[in-house]
Amino acid sequence: MRIFVAGVTLAAVAIGTSFAADPAPKAGPGWTGLTEPEELIEAREALMVEMERIMRPLDSYTIGEPAEPENLRSIAQTVSQMMLAIPHLFPPTTNLYDPKAQTPKTLALPPIWQNWAAFEKLAVASHEEAEKVAKMKTPGELKAGALALRATCDACHAGFLRPYVPAKVEQSDLNFDFDSALKKK
Ligand code: HEC
Repeated sequence: MRIFVAGVTLAAVAIGTSFAADPAPKAGPGWTGLTEPEELIEAREALMVEMERIMRPLDSYTIGEPAEPENLRSIAQTVSQMMLAIPHLFPPTTNLYDPKAQTPKTLALPPIWQNWAAFEKLAVASHEEAEKVAKMKTPGELKAGALALRATCDACHAGFLRPYVPAKVEQSDLNFDFDSALKKK
């Protein structure tokens, strides 16, 4: 038992040095940000991808796809609640972006932790916009609200998410036989 306690203390000291600006709490059960940062990254990425999935009818509505207003409000309500959890899945221990890695552990950029107040504000703005959309009645309101909500996602991604890197063009792509592929149609 003694040895275990000493191990935990050592781990806390090691973490304390690498995040000197943020005195680390004592590692113990439940401090998942300290003990399993990669699990937090997985959780926040899953939440983000799920928000993207459920936002589809709202996005489509803005370009004229018909939808039940009640369904759109319900989506916005869910996004507003999911957004409340988002900032809490970004403790400094998850500042693990590696620009050299081909598949980085996280796409969250270090400026998040240099501009924490701005990051939090953008999450709050997104939460509040979603809450508003959840109460909107007319098609005009819902359309404008859906666009405004999407803009809050984009605003945060613009500064804090690694920009999209297109896949490299391979020689096989260049040699692709477009003519015969198109003829088959
Ligand atoms: C407060 C900032 C913030 C807001 C608001 C925000 N995101 Fe994100 N989003 C991020 C960050 C940071 C990541 C990268 C997370 C990681 O890789 O650890 C991310 C990642 C994503 C990804 C995964 C991207 C990829 O290439 O894997 C999707 C999809 C996504 N967000 C959708 C949304 C949607 C939809 C909304 C709005 C409803 C939204 N986000 C709002 C900060 C934000």
